[in-house]
Amino acid sequence: MFKQTRYDSERLYLKILKPNYAGEVLEYYKRNHNFLTEWEPKHPKDFYTLSYQKNKLSSEYTLFKENSMVRFWIFKKEDNKLIGNVCYSNIVMGNFKSCFLGYKLDKDEINKGYMTEAIKKTVDIMFEDFGLHRIEANIVPRNARSLKVMEKLEFEKEGFSRRYLEINGKWEDHVHFATYNDRM
Ligand SMILES: CC(C)(COP(=O)(O)OP(=O)(O)OC[C@H]1O[C@@H](n2cnc3c(N)ncnc32)[C@H](O)[C@@H]1OP(=O)(O)O)[C@@H](O)C(=O)NCCC(=O)NCCS
Repeated sequence: MFKQTRYDSERLYLKILKPNYAGEVLEYYKRNHNFLTEWEPKHPKDFYTLSYQKNKLSSEYTLFKENSMVRFWIFKKEDNKLIGNVCYSNIVMGNFKSCFLGYKLDKDEINKGYMTEAIKKTVDIMFEDFGLHRIEANIVPRNARSLKVMEKLEFEKEGFSRRYLEINGKWEDHVHFATYNDRM
């Protein structure tokens, strides 16, 4: 189980947020609208409103308390700017102990190694504190930056799933990766 709601790595804070951060989260999504559209599912009409983001943070905090998902919001230690998130969803325990990984950064902060640092730290948390055995990630084949992150973190390439997820209105093929907790 989680020991805390705030962790840190060398250059980053990784925080599980409550609805009082909705303003900062909304600003993040607004300024990254164009950058993220290609890689995200289509959002509901009211996605870019404070009330939507408040409700989402609130329901995600409930899921976090129920141990079924956790989204770590990434802040730079240097200036406390919110620059993205890493999300572990569909957590299933029992004899599966597995979940899905998703992640996104800020357009102005890419290629500085921040996402690699954030995933490395949060995978450790999911394995050591939470007790997961396996984490799965699925990447659109043309997403070169994301594939590079998987390579740097040494996720294992396990396969290819045809028309796997609906991204920006289109059923997209995905390359399937996983990482395993060797301490189990
Ligand atoms: C994918 C994403 C999270 C990566 O974050 P990031 O902080 O830039 O990642 P890192 O800096 O840790 O690593 C990126 C690597 O890709 C490399 N890269 C950048 N553009 C590239 C390209 N066109 N081809 C190959 N590699 C590329 C960078 O050089 C870097 O590798 P290096 O450290 O060896 O130089 C970020 O680009 C993002 O948010 N994209 C939009 C949303 C998204 O795609 N989410 C993932 C969905 S699966």
